[in-house]
Amino acid sequence: MQANVHKLLNQQINKEFYSAYLYLDFSNYFEDAGLDGFANWYKIQAQEERDHAMLFYQYLQNENQKVTLEAIPKPDKVFTCHLDVLKAGLEHEEYVTALINEIYAAAYEVKDFRTMQFLDWFVKEQGEEETNAHDLITKMELFGSDPKSLYMLNQELAARVYTAPSLVL
Ligand code: FEO
Repeated sequence: MQANVHKLLNQQINKEFYSAYLYLDFSNYFEDAGLDGFANWYKIQAQEERDHAMLFYQYLQNENQKVTLEAIPKPDKVFTCHLDVLKAGLEHEEYVTALINEIYAAAYEVKDFRTMQFLDWFVKEQGEEETNAHDLITKMELFGSDPKSLYMLNQELAARVYTAPSLVL
């Protein structure tokens, strides 16, 4: 595997674990706010991010490439309202999309077709992640200021259940 592609894939393990940590922090925020449905939604989001990290980890292992685990930064955002948390979620997903695109571009440059094929799942996944984050913001903007509607939105998010990723390595 070409050195830069290897470096970026290895970095992405850390970025995905950070995403898990960030969303667990979001979950923690909503737990404190008494919105257990939102807390559930982000806790499941954190589980998905951990899965993403493990997919990058497994891919490198399968390719007989060295994995180096680095320290995961502390989530340090302080929020003053619920909507800001959701907006930070969308911003973070857009950042992750840019990271995936960067790895894809690096793989494309050196004709690493196997890595490109591996990343295809993530390209699609990022589209879904951004849509979900967008939808949450829209719903919060529409219903968040009315306590009864917020209660129902919270109930809706409480129903989210974890499903394992469709990509198996
Ligand atoms: Fe692993 Fe939400 O991107």
